[in-house]
Amino acid sequence: MQLSEFFGVLRARWTLVATCVVLAVLAALAVTLLTTPVYEARARIYLSTERVQDTPQGGVFALTSDDLETYVSILNTPAVLEPLREELGMEPGHPVHVSADVTGSTSILNITATAADPQEAARVANEVGPQLGAVAGEFSTLLASSGQKVISTPIEPASPPSSPTSPDPVRNIGLGLLAGLVLGIGLAFLRHALDTKVRGEEDIRAHSDAPMLAGLPLESTSSKGLVSVEEQPHGRHAEAIRRLRTNLMFVDVTTGRHSFVVTSAMPGEGKTTTAVNLALAMADSGRRTLLVDADLRKPSVARTLGMEGSVGLTTVLLGDAEVHDVIQPWGSVGMDVLPAGQIPPNPSELLGSAPMEALLTTLVQEYDFVLIDSPPVVPVIDAVVIERLTGGLVMVVGVDRTRKKDLVAALKQLDTVGARVSGFARNFVSGKSSGEYRYGYHTYEQEAASETRRGRRRAEATSGGRGQ
Ligand SMILES: Nc1ncnc2c1ncn2[C@@H]1O[C@H](COP(=O)(O)OP(=O)(O)O)[C@@H](O)[C@H]1O
Ligand SMILES: [Mg+2]
Repeated sequence: MQLSEFFGVLRARWTLVATCVVLAVLAALAVTLLTTPVYEARARIYLSTERVQDTPQGGVFALTSDDLETYVSILNTPAVLEPLREELGMEPGHPVHVSADVTGSTSILNITATAADPQEAARVANEVGPQLGAVAGEFSTLLASSGQKVISTPIEPASPPSSPTSPDPVRNIGLGLLAGLVLGIGLAFLRHALDTKVRGEEDIRAHSDAPMLAGLPLESTSSKGLVSVEEQPHGRHAEAIRRLRTNLMFVDVTTGRHSFVVTSAMPGEGKTTTAVNLALAMADSGRRTLLVDADLRKPSVARTLGMEGSVGLTTVLLGDAEVHDVIQPWGSVGMDVLPAGQIPPNPSELLGSAPMEALLTTLVQEYDFVLIDSPPVVPVIDAVVIERLTGGLVMVVGVDRTRKKDLVAALKQLDTVGARVSGFARNFVSGKSSGEYRYGYHTYEQEAASETRRGRRRAEATSGGRGQ
């Protein structure tokens, strides 16, 4: 995986990563708030012996490091804790947490006591020494018989700690943040790796920076083509096409060439359907629009629109007809269509020829907007050839159908020849999840404007006034 793909996946699935981070931080915060605080108090004591009575054995008993280790190990036994609780006025069985260690080969013990209450922690730490001293004789017969006892001298008495040692909010939130990031990034890559099809915008964004121009809904269609802008201008597909039109006009501002090729990675993703409807929507917005079928391998604009398609682009390129003689007006909004004509044996060469370039240059000057339907990018080079002659390229992506592999191959192919994708139109978007239809008020305004124009044009057409 290249670094650009790594960041692409992160950019595409940043919501998943962000959600994991937020959830993990919230969990860390909850744990922090729900954890009972623990206070830790430390005391240092010096243990020594003191003669209390004269005994026949006499002598001086010196504490050895073994004695000190013994005291450390009996610390948490009832022998020490019960008198300690009693001394501190605690209930029998009240939890006491205490530990100790010896400093090197000295007689100094470091005592650590923890408790939910800072005062109690300090009191326990300070009481351990005297209690140890009191019971020391029971664990050393030599000491008991020597008539001496162990006394504890505080070196550093414990004082109540001002802040708890746990929970540590900074550490917990830091750990939550880290865990969330790791989990989020892991899940993002797992999802990316497991899914071979393009599902949503994020799968496209992982591989391209080009804008998402629209999501076109999956419609139930008959075997006849889907020409929603003409047949169901109030439907959601037509509405999405109008959104595509609006966004494409913004892209057009940057190129100023008023022509786009519509393509996709593989066949059947909806190039022709999108191109036909987009051209109709363009014409509907009052622009003189020409739709050119440059899919010279599997031309389907004429079939989709139910028009005669045997004479068209290839006829003009052969010099057998004048372009204006083969362009046909279509639909109530007055879109012009240049069908493909006869299928040639050499589509790529024809599309890349000088006559094609000259023809397109003329057409772009004559029309406000020229839209070109093309073959898919992965199997053939044609779309790339056409792209050079136009202002940009609209990539239709059939969601839940297109394999990521094919999309990546198409983008790579375009990138290799320096062709830029102007934007993506996701097709076959199902359900309301796409969020494409939220701005209902937009639609009514556009519908109203559209209706007015349609009516005006119909009136012009009947009076024979529709110019081209
Ligand atoms: N949004 C859509 N909802 C339902 N069917 C669609 C949609 N877009 C395209 N189709 C159908 O999918 C098929 C392939 O579409 P087409 O535009 O011919 O693809 P392409 O030109 O990319 O090969 C056609 O039958 C078309 O009617
Ligand atoms: Mg097609």
